[in-house]
Amino acid sequence: MVKEPYEKPTLIKQIVGTMNKFGNSYYRNSREDIDGVAVDAMVRQFGSPLFVFSERDLRNRYRQLHRSFSTRYPNVRFAWSYKTNYLDAVCAVLHQEGEIAEVVSGFEYEKAVRLGIPGNHIIFNGPFKTADDLTRAFTDGAMVNIDNFSELLLAEKTAERLGKQVAVGIRLNMDTGIYPQWFKFGFNLDNHQAMEAVNRLAMSKWLRLNGLHTHIGTFILDPSGYANAVEKMVAFMHEIEDNFDFTIEYLDLGGGFPSRNRLKGIYQPPDVAVPPVEEYADAICTKLLHHLRPKQFPKLYLETGRALVDEAGYLVTTITANKQLPDGSKAYFIDAGINILPTTNWYTLDIRPEKALVSPPEPCILYGPLCMNIDVVAESVYLPSLPVNSRLVLHPVGAYNVTQWMQFITYRPAVVMVMEDGTVECIRRAENIEDLVRCEVLPKKLVVHRGDT
Ligand SMILES: Cc1ncc(COP(=O)(O)O)c(C=O)c1O
Repeated sequence: MVKEPYEKPTLIKQIVGTMNKFGNSYYRNSREDIDGVAVDAMVRQFGSPLFVFSERDLRNRYRQLHRSFSTRYPNVRFAWSYKTNYLDAVCAVLHQEGEIAEVVSGFEYEKAVRLGIPGNHIIFNGPFKTADDLTRAFTDGAMVNIDNFSELLLAEKTAERLGKQVAVGIRLNMDTGIYPQWFKFGFNLDNHQAMEAVNRLAMSKWLRLNGLHTHIGTFILDPSGYANAVEKMVAFMHEIEDNFDFTIEYLDLGGGFPSRNRLKGIYQPPDVAVPPVEEYADAICTKLLHHLRPKQFPKLYLETGRALVDEAGYLVTTITANKQLPDGSKAYFIDAGINILPTTNWYTLDIRPEKALVSPPEPCILYGPLCMNIDVVAESVYLPSLPVNSRLVLHPVGAYNVTQWMQFITYRPAVVMVMEDGTVECIRRAENIEDLVRCEVLPKKLVVHRGDT
């Protein structure tokens, strides 16, 4: 079934008449389908656990984000943060929408090139770039943002070796009112280290400064942090342009907008705690237009990661066993563990049974399948009584899981995408033993022969 492009709000019926004050309502929240495709059908075809991405959600979210900025500032471009999710199909959807690539390693660079992204549409960040990385990036005309003085010297040597002058950006960190402040990336703006870097670049025959980058943090709940960053970056840009023979062609504000996920320790639900993206666009673009000089519109790059892809991702998991714990509480074992779901460390995920079950919710703990005591996916979740083999759907899980997941004890599961036309494509098949032993080499004398043991 093909749904309308914009999802209508769903009203969930509460059984108000039978609800006791200060008691829990009967549990009615369920998720039988994703974008109109039955969860049951997908699991039967591709197995459990199963990551499911929504093409429609990805595209809609990108369009909303892009619209929020492009209607407020005339020169904006989004660069897809590969580390947030570098599955080819996810990157390809966002590239089709118009995003360039933002990478932080030679591996990610390689992945973007494989997808057909030209060098001049790749932003290369990260605190560690090898001589080979820089050689390739400079040869291809990629946008390289230098992180530190050691890298600056390496970049200079690399450009000299290539015999061509190259334009580079520099990464900045600064006090934006968001704490704790991130000092790891870039040159500090407040203690003039960044100006020292500009001075050093001005002495270089091989490097020319043309851009400023910052990434002030992640899951930033207060848009004013971006407004402060913009004000400082524009002032710095003017100082540079007034005193050096450099033109700053782009300001890159990195990522950091929150997704509508529930950060641990934050009591309010995401709909209350997470400001809409328009507030970030307002904070950034208003400051830009106020502080830039007349007719000056440097390219604004945004490297939004989690706010774009988190809600497009779901994880379907199956209950494999249940247990009564000595303290009387209930535990379920599920077939997805923390090895494939690292963001459970950060978030209290929305967890719903696949089927609507009219039974009172009770507090329970969800254990993953790993033979490790710390493999706990959710510690105190209210769920109705669930039979073994029934399923749960966890959401949002689209950001950072399918990149940070580790192969440990179990195989990593399949990932599918529900396409806009309602078909389902497998975008990463489940791993098997051959995938995992491919890189191993067994020395001849260690080969085990039948009868050796
Ligand atoms: C340089 C850079 N850009 C973009 C991002 C994406 O950040 P987020 O997912 O918070 O939007 C990151 C993530 O850490 C980053 O380091």
